[in-house]
Amino acid sequence: MRLKSALFAGFAIVLSSCNAASAPESASISAAASDPLANPAAGEWLSDGRDYTAQRYSPLTQINAGNVGDLGLAWYADLDTYRGVEATPLYSDGILYNTLSWNITTAYDAKTGEVLWTYDPQTPREFGRYACCEPVSRGLAMHGNKVIIATLDGRLIALDKNTGEEIWTSRAFDLDTGFAYSITGAPRVFGDKVVIGQSGGDLGVRGFVIALDVETGEKAWKFYLTPAPEENGPDGEASDDVMPWVRETWSEEGMWETLGGGANPWDSIAYDPDLNLVYVGTGNSVPHARYYRSNNEGDNLFVCSIVALDGTTGEYRWHYQMNPGEEWDWTCTASMISADLEIDGRQRKVIMQAPKNGFFYVLDRETGEFISAEAHVFQNWNEGFDENGRPVTSQQVRYDETPKLVAPGPGGAHNWFPMAYSPRTGLAYFPAYQSAFVYALQPGWEPQPLRSNSGWGGYTGEAGRIRGELMQEANEIESAWLAAWDPVKQELAWKVELPRHGNGGVMVTASDLVFEGTTNQTFNAFDARTGDVLWTYPTQSAPVAGAITYMVDGEQYIAINAGWGGGAAQIERGAGIEMPRAPARLLVFKLGGDLELPPLPEDAAAPPEPPRLTASEEEVARGQLLYQNTCAVCHGQNAMGGVADLRHLTREKHSLFNQIVLEGLYQDKGMANFSDLLTEDEVDAIHSYIIARANEDWGR
Ligand code: HEC
Repeated sequence: MRLKSALFAGFAIVLSSCNAASAPESASISAAASDPLANPAAGEWLSDGRDYTAQRYSPLTQINAGNVGDLGLAWYADLDTYRGVEATPLYSDGILYNTLSWNITTAYDAKTGEVLWTYDPQTPREFGRYACCEPVSRGLAMHGNKVIIATLDGRLIALDKNTGEEIWTSRAFDLDTGFAYSITGAPRVFGDKVVIGQSGGDLGVRGFVIALDVETGEKAWKFYLTPAPEENGPDGEASDDVMPWVRETWSEEGMWETLGGGANPWDSIAYDPDLNLVYVGTGNSVPHARYYRSNNEGDNLFVCSIVALDGTTGEYRWHYQMNPGEEWDWTCTASMISADLEIDGRQRKVIMQAPKNGFFYVLDRETGEFISAEAHVFQNWNEGFDENGRPVTSQQVRYDETPKLVAPGPGGAHNWFPMAYSPRTGLAYFPAYQSAFVYALQPGWEPQPLRSNSGWGGYTGEAGRIRGELMQEANEIESAWLAAWDPVKQELAWKVELPRHGNGGVMVTASDLVFEGTTNQTFNAFDARTGDVLWTYPTQSAPVAGAITYMVDGEQYIAINAGWGGGAAQIERGAGIEMPRAPARLLVFKLGGDLELPPLPEDAAAPPEPPRLTASEEEVARGQLLYQNTCAVCHGQNAMGGVADLRHLTREKHSLFNQIVLEGLYQDKGMANFSDLLTEDEVDAIHSYIIARANEDWGR
């Protein structure tokens, strides 16, 4: 195998800058002026990032440093789930809109919390298996009289915002593509289109972004973010023009051909209405290990990039790839924020992102030109940037069968937790996570359907010993904080240390208050200029989502979903941390609010005595591997915590184990039937492992 074009390395960048010369027409400027999403009324929160800049900055100032201490609970809604709740709610015209796991969507009277309507799209529970990190939804979209949701199984549904009745339903992906697509991201309305990406990159999918007509749900355009094998011919989509040179960045043969190459935009997509550009933040590729995926060759476009597309046609305009040849599970899907900044005496239209790889990027959003980037955590992959802004990747982090310590780790220095930016302070605010991980190729690895197809592993013998030592080092550098970052100086303005990873999204107001949920199980207001803690509210859970603020009848409210779960909780549980917590709630605050939360439920009754372990050590080890590959995403690493703690199964549940796993007994609770993936013999091995874990931890 060889790379098709050795000359390719600098090509995309050259192409991007010449494309930029023919800047897109600004036909939409006048449209933008009357578009409420470009310029929402001060008291409204109409889209995921509030407006097209996605700054999560509200002009409201009634709640300020002087009175924030009087902030109290105005109302709350029990969300009837212990799962992660990651959605940023929306607010318009007296109504608050929220969406939960399985895309159940509710409209509340924003003042009282009275439920106005609930819409359940009946998301098939078996799609829970496709979502790496729980069947979450990160939000919804609005346009005129419509609220638009994107379901885990790929539907886009427009609802009447006053009644919750369906206006149209459309599909973002077909169910017969052969790829295990799902959707967890918030849809975005850009002008007259609604745009969405998809999840599934760890399993192996071919990423794309699709735009639909917001009035009818009809497809407007679609852009693939990775190539298909050449013999498949053109897709007939907006990406066809670029695919010949995109394909040059992949090896001639490799597992990417069947696993799709990933790069799926599972979170942020942004828009500039004046430039009429849609910015797509793309994910990792699979197998994560480039050795298996692409013969250790090539940049593998458009993995871990920001890709700018024409808003009308979906045609390529420019791209910037943060990690050429990405193989550490670093996605570039995090919040993308637009701002106009003065840099080196010039006014620049920039787009900013702090993706998983630990750097903070500032790009020219008109041309894609690299302006600057700086690490905000400890990192060991980057040795600088060349004159085009292409990173120089250290050979130290290109792993083989010998384990290598790489920082940041796959959880990312900053993941999907929403970032905010204040044009008043000139600072960007986001939760930072300093971490590292030990990567190695698993010899003789083969992909498996519906598993996280990393190609990492094989930590036995000498490799296992090295890994153990390096993991100790990795654990030592781990820490977390709320960062206030100056994008012009590319330096930290202040930080607030926090106990663990998984701190929530950030919102900032024109009264210079920064709001964030933390793993202290609190929701806080910080001084946006100093980081001083001005107000703390014990939420009985760690709110991971982004907060919003809105105004009804002259009163300012602040709303946040508090539900601990998703990928961050998985990482914490993997390290043995499981916090007592209330079921998820939507919490809404106002000045003088005096409602109290009910006390946390008493600790659940002591776990039942586990059955005696009769299986052999080999059987337990086999079960452990199968468990990690198949069950851990929902039931936690090491069978701790998760949606149901399997160490605490009752006798009755033990006797129903095979029916639950192989016959779909609890399908309606979200526990899928695994008979297509596992044999009875394998399920017995998993069961043995769970019994072993239950015995290990019983009585502790
Ligand atoms: C996509 C998520 C998901 C995956 C993957 C998953 N489960 Fe589940 N499982 C669930 C949910 C949701 C429930 C129901 C929890 C509840 O009671 O609300 C459940 C319940 C169970 C229960 C019953 C627990 C009880 O106390 O009632 C068992 C046993 C179980 N799962 C075993 C497994 C095994 C074994 C695997 C791997 C082969 C697995 N699950 C994989 C989501 C998952």
